[in-house]
Amino acid sequence: MIEWYGRHGRDLPWRHTKDPYRIWVSEIILQQTRVVQGYEYYCRFIKRFPDVGTLAEASEDEVMKYWQGLGYYSRARNLYAAAKSIRMQGGFPVGYDEVRALKGVGDYTAAAICSFAYDMPYAVVDGNVYRVLSRWMGIEEPVDTAKGKKLFAALAGELLDRQRPALYNQAIMDFGALQCVPSSPDCMACPLADTCVAFRTGKAGVLPCKRHKTKVSARYFIYLYVHTECGYTFVRKREKEDIWQNLYEIPLLEGERTVGEEELFRLPEFAEMFGRTIPVRVRLVRKNERHVLSHRVIYADFYEVIVPDDAALPGYLRIRKDDLYKFPVSRLLSRFFSLLLKPD
Ligand code: ADE
Repeated sequence: MIEWYGRHGRDLPWRHTKDPYRIWVSEIILQQTRVVQGYEYYCRFIKRFPDVGTLAEASEDEVMKYWQGLGYYSRARNLYAAAKSIRMQGGFPVGYDEVRALKGVGDYTAAAICSFAYDMPYAVVDGNVYRVLSRWMGIEEPVDTAKGKKLFAALAGELLDRQRPALYNQAIMDFGALQCVPSSPDCMACPLADTCVAFRTGKAGVLPCKRHKTKVSARYFIYLYVHTECGYTFVRKREKEDIWQNLYEIPLLEGERTVGEEELFRLPEFAEMFGRTIPVRVRLVRKNERHVLSHRVIYADFYEVIVPDDAALPGYLRIRKDDLYKFPVSRLLSRFFSLLLKPD
C-alpha cells in the first residue's frame, strides 16, 4: 500500500507540514467533506487564520463565515472553542490524550493529528479504513455497531506500520479513496488483489456490511424574506441545536407538512412573527426548494413580505439589505439570496 501511495498518492497542502494546528484544521474540514471541496476551504481558512492564536482572537461570526457552505457547522464552533482553550493552555497539546480531549476531536482525528504531526503510532480508522480492511480480510461483521468498531480498531492497530505511522495512515486513506472505492472498484488494477479475500470470493460489492440503514426524514420550512421598501431586512442568529446552529437566518416557520398560502396567513405563528407590524404585501417567490442534508431533506417555500418602513420584528436584527452577504448563512439561504439579489 505504501508503495502504491508513492506512485498514486495525492499531493495535498496539509501533507507538506508537521504543524499540528494546520493538520488539525485539515482533518476537521475533511471529517465530512470531500478532498476536492475541502481543499479550497482549507487554503482560505489557513490564509486568514495561519495559527491558533489568530483563530482564537477572531470573532465566531467571522469563523462561521469562512465555514459557510461546508455544512456540519458544529465542526466550526468546536474548532473555535478548542482554539480558545489551546491558547489558554499555552500551545497545541503534544500527547494523544490531550489532543483527544479537544472539542470536536474523536479517535480518528486524534490518531490523524498525532501520527501526522508527531509520528506517534496511532492507526486512523474511518470509512476508508473499514472498506479496505473488511474487503482485504473478508470480514462481514457490520462496521456500524460497537462490536464491529472495536474489531476494526484492533485490526487497524495491528496492521499499522509502527516505524512509519504517518506514511501508512496517509497511504491507507488514499488507497480507500482512490483504489478501493465504494462502488465498482477496479480490482484488476489493484496491487493487493492477489491477497484480497473479497476479490477471491467476489464480495467486494457487499463489503463493508452495515447493520443500520441511514434514515432520512423530511422537514418543511417556510422562509419569509421580510423587507421594507427603504432597504432594510431582518435576520437572527439560529440558536436551535438541530441544524445550522449559530448561522444566521431570515424569519422562519416550520410546519409538519407543506402549507398553502391561505393556510399560512391563518397560522398564529405567522401573526406572532410580526408583532404589531402589519405586512403591506406577501408574495410566494419560490416553492418546494429541495435541500438534502445527511439525515434529512428540507422542503422550503420562500415568501417575500414587504413591511412598512418603520417596522421592527420581535427577536430579529434589523439590517440593511446590502449587508446581508456579511452574515454566515446556510447554503440553502445563500442560494436563495443569490437568486433573489441578482440584478435582472
Ligand atoms: N480525509 C481525511 N483526512 C485526510 C487526509 N489527511 N488526506 C486525504 N483525505 C483525508
